[in-house]
Amino acid sequence: MLVKDGKVIFEKHKEGTARFPVPDFPVEYGIPEELRRRVPLNLPEVPENEVVRHYVRLSQRNWGVDIGFYPLGSCTMKYNPKFNEDVSRLPGFTHLHPHAPIHLVQGALRLMYELQEYLKKLTGMDGITLQPVAGASGELTGIFMIKAYLKHRGEGHRDEVLIPDSAHGTNPATASMAGFRAIEVKSNDKGTLDVEDLKSKLSDRTVGLMITNPNTLGLFERDIREITDLVHRAGGQVYMDGANFNAIMGWVSLSDLGIDVVHLNLHKTFSTPHGGGGPGAGAVLVKEHLKPFLPVPTVEYDGERGVYYLDWNRPLSIGKVHAFYGHFLVMVRAYAYILSMGGEGLRQAAADAVLNANYLRHLIEGEYRISYPTRNMHEFVATAMPIKRETGVRTYDIAKRLLDYGFHAPTVYFPLIVPEALMIEPTETETKETLEAFAETLIKIKKEAYENPEVVKTAPHTTPVRRLDEVKAAKQLKVKWEGS
Ligand SMILES: Cc1ncc(COP(=O)(O)O)c(C=O)c1O
Repeated sequence: MLVKDGKVIFEKHKEGTARFPVPDFPVEYGIPEELRRRVPLNLPEVPENEVVRHYVRLSQRNWGVDIGFYPLGSCTMKYNPKFNEDVSRLPGFTHLHPHAPIHLVQGALRLMYELQEYLKKLTGMDGITLQPVAGASGELTGIFMIKAYLKHRGEGHRDEVLIPDSAHGTNPATASMAGFRAIEVKSNDKGTLDVEDLKSKLSDRTVGLMITNPNTLGLFERDIREITDLVHRAGGQVYMDGANFNAIMGWVSLSDLGIDVVHLNLHKTFSTPHGGGGPGAGAVLVKEHLKPFLPVPTVEYDGERGVYYLDWNRPLSIGKVHAFYGHFLVMVRAYAYILSMGGEGLRQAAADAVLNANYLRHLIEGEYRISYPTRNMHEFVATAMPIKRETGVRTYDIAKRLLDYGFHAPTVYFPLIVPEALMIEPTETETKETLEAFAETLIKIKKEAYENPEVVKTAPHTTPVRRLDEVKAAKQLKVKWEGS
């Protein structure tokens, strides 16, 4: 949209292509004089079918799981069944007012309560809040609860949070936002946490350990029991980043692993379309000793009276972490997803996610170096280092070239401990044919790198825009036409 001489100019406008019906009653009928339009309304003239085509075309320029494969590692870009979307759009949910009295929102509270119970069952944990609105928001909530707990126990002097070098950036950011020092713990040559390094960093200053399991290399932390015992013996708490829960849901009790707090990214594992900044939900689950510190209000059920209610009377609570009760419609989707999948369905989804990732790794491992070539969980990390050394083609170029072949790139340059990383998470919802086509394309691009590196280095060639300034593209969005 362009403004010229105080008039809005529309790029699709063409004089005489659209006609408004002439009313057959006096236009001034019933409209007070002072409210009547004095100058004609400046609307674009565009035939209806052209308008539809314009917006559909624009929508298709955006990538999404409904268009194609989206193997963004650690992001779990699985297909989100439309049934969950339909349920989340029911007027009974969308028309709810957050200030509605409790007796009028029993259904919504029941949904939240039952979702809490399902998530507790899936993780083996004792208490929960659904209030945080993202993984990162869940992390901060969890670490605040640990802080409050330690203070309550008279150990407020503890100020060091131990974090593996493979962790997501939100982990150290969370620790420092909570006023702690983030201390890095090394990974070993198997890609899991180095227990000896952990031991050397535990002390009476340890707040706890933030550990992702399976970790961002797609590997299950096999020493987790030993690790959690060590942290507890040092007086610390274990926070698990559960962003990768999709790989293990229904298979393992986190409580049995010795986890004290965990967040789950409901938008990833439990089917809410995500990316582009939300909305999300980062449910946080805790063991019994941390329950008093949960944010207010908690959602409870009074079995005797048969009513659901909000409990604000929690003197040790860390307080509120978000307006009202969090992102309710994400909870609705998670609830619909869990009920439609069933317990066995969730277990099967996790198993299929792991199977797909292992199959894909198997398909490309002769051509791309896999960072830790053992059996992985839901994702694996390849490195384009040898290709870069021999041809000058970088991971970034490969990611861009994938777009020309109709695939979204995997996560790149993360985790930081793998140079030229390609972190690939196919998820359980992709077919064998898609995985094979993606593997073939990666192999084809590698061949191009050796035979015609320029074509890869200058990719993408087929997209509406080429290489963008990625910071500006995210921070200074241009969402309107400003003249050509
Ligand atoms: C391992 C891990 N932890 C935490 C997060 C943060 O989650 P969110 O983006 O919902 O804040 C992510 C997101 O990609 C992640 O992959």
